[in-house]
Amino acid sequence: MATLHLGQILSFDGSPFEDGHDAAWHERHGGLVEDGGKILALGPAEAMRAAHPFAGIVDHGEGLILPGFVDAHAHYPQTGMIASWGKRLIDWLNHYTFPEEMRFADPAYAHEIAGRYLDLLLAHGTTSVCSYCTIHPGSVDALFEAAEARGMRVFAGKTCMDRDTAPEGLRDSAQSAYDDSKALLARWHGKGRASYVITPRFSPTSTVAQLEALGALWAEHPDCLMQTHLSEQTDEIAWVKSLYPQARDYLDTYESYGLLRPGGLFGHAIHLEPRERGRLRETGAALVHCPTSNTFIGSGLFDMDGLTKEGQIVGLATDTGGGSSFSMLRTMAAAYEIAQLRHRPLHASELLWLATQGSARALRVADRIGNLAPGMEADFIVLDLASTPAIAQRSARAEDIWEALFPTIMMGDDRAIVETRVAGKRL
Ligand code: GUN
Ligand code: ZN
Repeated sequence: MATLHLGQILSFDGSPFEDGHDAAWHERHGGLVEDGGKILALGPAEAMRAAHPFAGIVDHGEGLILPGFVDAHAHYPQTGMIASWGKRLIDWLNHYTFPEEMRFADPAYAHEIAGRYLDLLLAHGTTSVCSYCTIHPGSVDALFEAAEARGMRVFAGKTCMDRDTAPEGLRDSAQSAYDDSKALLARWHGKGRASYVITPRFSPTSTVAQLEALGALWAEHPDCLMQTHLSEQTDEIAWVKSLYPQARDYLDTYESYGLLRPGGLFGHAIHLEPRERGRLRETGAALVHCPTSNTFIGSGLFDMDGLTKEGQIVGLATDTGGGSSFSMLRTMAAAYEIAQLRHRPLHASELLWLATQGSARALRVADRIGNLAPGMEADFIVLDLASTPAIAQRSARAEDIWEALFPTIMMGDDRAIVETRVAGKRL
């Protein structure tokens, strides 16, 4: 049976980066009709009531109905060690991350963390994520099984590392990475809402043979996404130069082995050379901005203004547990702060767009999730724009929806998420 959700509604007609802040539709008294997990219609509440007289009604009052957030880059296995103190990227990986990822050799542990992680995401209003797993195939099964149980559209892949820069116990080989990825892809890609993502961690932990093998696998399955890391810290870039002396730049270590084309997701992408920017744009690969991670690990300031102006595809992400939060609200706030440090204040519409449509576009599913429109999947949240006394007193004097939303972006957390619906179902 159809359900009519009443509340404020905000949806996008275009991109605020390209079409301005008015590329959005706001209805103070709106209605969204959901049926069979899809959005059937949306519009003014009275019009929706008249057109769908037999729909069950859920009244969200003043709540703001938004698409569920889409986190375009995360490491679910790092859930248990988020907020680990004091290290920069390479030491942080060796000291905190790799020991934690070794624990995923135990499928029971992977299962426990996968469920905990997805429940945390839902509590924070995130309905889709693109996550790294560990080198263990069981860590991929654990996440997709947990996503299936919740009905979530999840993108994930086995993290591949075969170079001796990764520790003993956390290494595969070029052949086993290819074989395991291929088997997981066959098992999960397109099963329900699951999408398999080919996942070389980053060029410092892969041999050329492994990058080539994964490039070959991607060529066999061109509709898959491929995710990796690019130019996050300057020490990392120097390390890549020493490991790949023949490469023109960091991106070239992927490009040379068939790992640069549409559907490529490059996490961080902070310290880019002009050639890299040019090739990323020409090929239509996507960049994923991870602002809480970039401040937490001390990586640098992503050039949102320059990159969006030159037409790059950009998504937004937590990068949990390098990122310091599971919340896309907190992530939007950090994106705002980083952009401020580069003298380009991002508008609330741009921040919200990045956390929904922007990430969905990077994941090549913008026609299914990340916006509210007829025919799209009914993954949506209800946001309380006055979830704490501090936020309430500020939003009370707002003159438009963007001013009402911005305090929640800057100061909100999971308390602002009144409910999260996945394919129409309240979770
Ligand atoms: N580069 C390679 N692996 C990682 C990771 O797990 N987190 C972050 N932030 N950067 C990486
Ligand atoms: Zn990452």
